[in-house]
Amino acid sequence: MDVRTCTINLNHWYVVAQSTEVTRKPIEVRLWYHSIVLYRDSQGKIHGLENRCPHRQVKLSEGKVVENSLECAYHGWQFDSEGICTLIPYLLDNQVLPNCKINVYPVQECHGFIWLFLGNQKVLESQSVKPMFIHEWEHLNYISTVSVIDCQAHFSFLIENLMDMYHGHLHHDYQAWTEAKLQELTTTEKEVKVIYEAKSYYKIDKIWSISQLFFPQFRSLHSEPLMVNYSYPHWRSTLGEDFTLYCLFCPINLTHTKAYLIHFTSLNAFQRLHKLPRWFRQWIKDKLSGTAQTMLDGLVKQDIKMIEQEQQAYTQQIQKPTYEINPTISAVQKMIKQQVKAKTIN
Ligand code: FES
Ligand SMILES: [Fe+2]
Repeated sequence: MDVRTCTINLNHWYVVAQSTEVTRKPIEVRLWYHSIVLYRDSQGKIHGLENRCPHRQVKLSEGKVVENSLECAYHGWQFDSEGICTLIPYLLDNQVLPNCKINVYPVQECHGFIWLFLGNQKVLESQSVKPMFIHEWEHLNYISTVSVIDCQAHFSFLIENLMDMYHGHLHHDYQAWTEAKLQELTTTEKEVKVIYEAKSYYKIDKIWSISQLFFPQFRSLHSEPLMVNYSYPHWRSTLGEDFTLYCLFCPINLTHTKAYLIHFTSLNAFQRLHKLPRWFRQWIKDKLSGTAQTMLDGLVKQDIKMIEQEQQAYTQQIQKPTYEINPTISAVQKMIKQQVKAKTIN
């Protein structure tokens, strides 16, 4: 089995959008060769339906939400949140509504993102699969920044990039981390966990130290453990006590991957801040959100360039071998292949 042509295990929750992207106006999202229309009903609840009008196969995301139904832009047929056709505006008295139904997908809004499940209903009912838990999202001590990764490459190239921390070399000008040394690699059925000893430039122990995100002169190099965890299909990383990163995957097809990279800066060290009223702490959290945007977008841009070139090389020179010395990569590839097999068993 070639990892670059591996499919995904659909029996997991994948992230298809940020909460803020979904309104009363329908939008199209894509996940593993499926086009899905997302919209909010009058109660603000999110629905995810097959993005295809059964009348003439056009996209329902071109239409609009009328009360709680989705109305197709072309001839105005309406579908309820169960995917059932409930109205045709020009239906004659002697005609009945066609018995057509479109697929409805389990969808939930959680930690600021929209999670969608395309897999087997029985697996979902078994409660064994849940969206990744991101406790920092709601916690008042964490400042978030989100960057969207959209790359023309197989998802394996992206997760390998995220797990191989020797690529700090690429981000040298952003001073993200340096001198990574692999300390520990553990693999279980569900995850690949790697600990590197690395040097970090940042230490967030005083309120003004947030300014290190902008001004290199405030940074000083020191040792920190760098942990990366592939908890299929998503990823989490911590650098010392101060930084946490998540990457939530949305593979679109074999050569196109979308993902959401979330960076959290911790305010845990500021004991005095914790005694302030909740509303004020929430205000600080909201005000500071997006602080790391320039840095995060810059890192993402550098990574995408490498990842897309790997994909292009793979596509063009399929016979050429590649050489790898980080054992993390083979552990990640093994996990991807195991998940393909697990999918076929379920
Ligand atoms: S194509 Fe949708 S109503 Fe005709
Ligand atoms: Fe990177």
